[in-house]
Amino acid sequence: MPAVGLVLVASLGAAAADAGTVQPIAKPAAQLYVEKCSVCHGQDGRGDTRMGRRFHAPDFTAEKFQGEAQDPDLKRAIMGGVVVDGMRRMPAWQDKLTAAQIDGLVSYVRSFRGAKPPPAR
Ligand code: HEC
Repeated sequence: MPAVGLVLVASLGAAAADAGTVQPIAKPAAQLYVEKCSVCHGQDGRGDTRMGRRFHAPDFTAEKFQGEAQDPDLKRAIMGGVVVDGMRRMPAWQDKLTAAQIDGLVSYVRSFRGAKPPPAR
């Protein structure tokens, strides 16, 4: 019964193709952060970059920031970006990143809490 075998092979092939399109390989949060966020927030999370100073990026290592902002606030800011007085300070990421990637970035932002200042050079 060769026909049955053919159908089986065809449906397996379709399943594999679906898996490829539905679940793109997720980049780890650290890599996303460096690629998309560090230009403003800095690789060390302090927001002490030219862009960060210009747009008033917060210091992610500061206890005040980490204590006041709740996870849903961070997630909302990453998804929708931040607009203050009609001026866009931070871009929105909800159309560019998956929900899982955004959750990963929330944890990554949390990981800056209490980071020591970089050693003086
Ligand atoms: C163009 C510069 C810029 C880029 C790029 C950027 N941000 Fe921001 N982000 C800001 C600024 C400025 C603020 C502070 C906005 C404000 O509250 O005035 C901010 C605020 C935040 C906050 C704090 C929100 C709160 O509740 O106070 C989080 C979390 C954050 N950004 C995460 C990210 C992540 C993650 C990325 C990368 C996917 C990113 N940002 C990319 C400029 C940027």
